[in-house]
Amino acid sequence: IKLYADGADIEGMIEEYKKGVASGFTTNPTLMKKAGVKSYEEFAKAVLKEIPDLPISFEVFSDDLSGMEREARKIAGWGDNVYIKIPVTNTKGESTAELVKKLSQDGLKLNVTAILTLEQVKTVADALSVDTPSIVSVFAGRIADTGRDPMPIMKDAVEILKSKPKAELLWASTREILNLIQAESCGCHIITITNDILKKVPQVGKDLSQLSLETVQMFYNDAQSAGYK
Ligand code: E4P
Repeated sequence: IKLYADGADIEGMIEEYKKGVASGFTTNPTLMKKAGVKSYEEFAKAVLKEIPDLPISFEVFSDDLSGMEREARKIAGWGDNVYIKIPVTNTKGESTAELVKKLSQDGLKLNVTAILTLEQVKTVADALSVDTPSIVSVFAGRIADTGRDPMPIMKDAVEILKSKPKAELLWASTREILNLIQAESCGCHIITITNDILKKVPQVGKDLSQLSLETVQMFYNDAQSAGYK
């Protein structure tokens, strides 16, 4: 499975790039707002200057299909490593499948995003061109947030996408490091992880007795430094 870094903090992105842990990057408008990005284009161009050779996804902001198409074609011109994020519907729930079909057929690399149902995965798989690389982002963490196990859905999504071998299934909205193991066991091609969770990757498979000792040590140290008697 490939690890992507999810976020829009440019320093953090460059740090992950230099460390070589991430083999790609995802952003979204919410992450950009959180990171205090003022100008989308300036931000994207600054990122692409530092990271010119790994896949990076940038999202369109329009809510109407013609606006999305205009933005998508513009974003595609920013670099060969750019994937254009197109939401699976607009805010009215209207499908973007026709636009996905058109852009993918024209050779634009898309990341179809905000997918939560297998019905949507099927529609997107049908729309994507067999010749163009693409990413299909299923928000497994948001599915889990509703009390549903995302794993059966992700396994089925892997099967559905076999009809488009250049499409990669991405596990999005990662909530904890366990999701990395789950995504891998489902056969997902990519998982995108925020920096705070990426830092925990070295903990994978750690000896639990050792972790127990470290936990006790932490409580002891904190009691000592707080002066509790
Ligand atoms: C990635 O491409 C997504 O935009 C991101 O993982 C969504 O995360 P969230 O569901 O926590 O907002």
